[in-house]
Amino acid sequence: MSTQKIREGDYVLLYLSRRKTYLVKVEKGKTFHTHKGFIKFDDIIGKEYGARVSSNIGIEFAALKPLLRDYIFKSTRKTQITYPKDVALIVMFSGIGPGSSIVEAGTGTGALTTALTHYVKPDGRVYSYEIREEFLETAKKNLRRAGLIDFVVLKNKDVTVGIDENDVDAVILDLATPWLVVPHAYTALKPCGTIVSFSPTMDQIVKTVEALKDNSFVDIETVECLMRGMQTERGRTRPHTLMTGHTGYITFARKATKPKA
Ligand SMILES: C[S@@+](CC[C@H](N)C(=O)[O-])C[C@H]1O[C@@H](n2cnc3c(N)ncnc32)[C@H](O)[C@@H]1O
Repeated sequence: MSTQKIREGDYVLLYLSRRKTYLVKVEKGKTFHTHKGFIKFDDIIGKEYGARVSSNIGIEFAALKPLLRDYIFKSTRKTQITYPKDVALIVMFSGIGPGSSIVEAGTGTGALTTALTHYVKPDGRVYSYEIREEFLETAKKNLRRAGLIDFVVLKNKDVTVGIDENDVDAVILDLATPWLVVPHAYTALKPCGTIVSFSPTMDQIVKTVEALKDNSFVDIETVECLMRGMQTERGRTRPHTLMTGHTGYITFARKATKPKA
């Protein structure tokens, strides 16, 4: 892989420690202030990603190229977001990739939208439905910052009323009443298309699975993903005492033709 130089207008993750990172847009002539002194952007422009830069008081930061998860964790939040551990499973289970066409609801903060769009670009599209207009403004901002806005269609619509698109590869849901969307998803999906629904409570998954069975979906599966971080230090390596104990359950299914009998 060729190295990449940092240019004016690029985003950089200034890394001090695991707990202290800053996602910043590099602007000529400007400075970024931290509790460990300020960094001149002019000292970063032209350097390769990964280079170390010093603040005015001599503290070193690494200038890293932001990853998808940095854009997600640093998004301006208006709602609960889908965590990267769940995003990873959603992407894998849905079978999406470059060129896929996806219907998503609700957009919320746009964290999941950001990930889905990253994987379907440049030829695919994400059609993302959200009932709260003010959330769409925030999502738009987050998607623009991640350089993905051109590959998303944001729609201020109630997805339980219907889906406008046809022949889509996947329908991906993170909203309070996914079971109400299941019949619309069946109509919108191409044959053998996938549906993936993320829900925080068991009552939601029971209703969703019942609706999937009633609407000719097959290969229905619900999973929960628990992720434990490790503290790694010779002689003391073990899981961290604290972890995110619960985010939600992921239900997956595939569209099949209606049963004959
Ligand atoms: C938990 S948030 C989604 C967060 C999003 N996955 C993210 O990562 O940022 C759920 C969103 O669904 C929206 N929503 C709820 N019901 C909806 C509906 N019927 N149609 C469209 N959006 C809906 C809510 O307004 C809310 O913004």
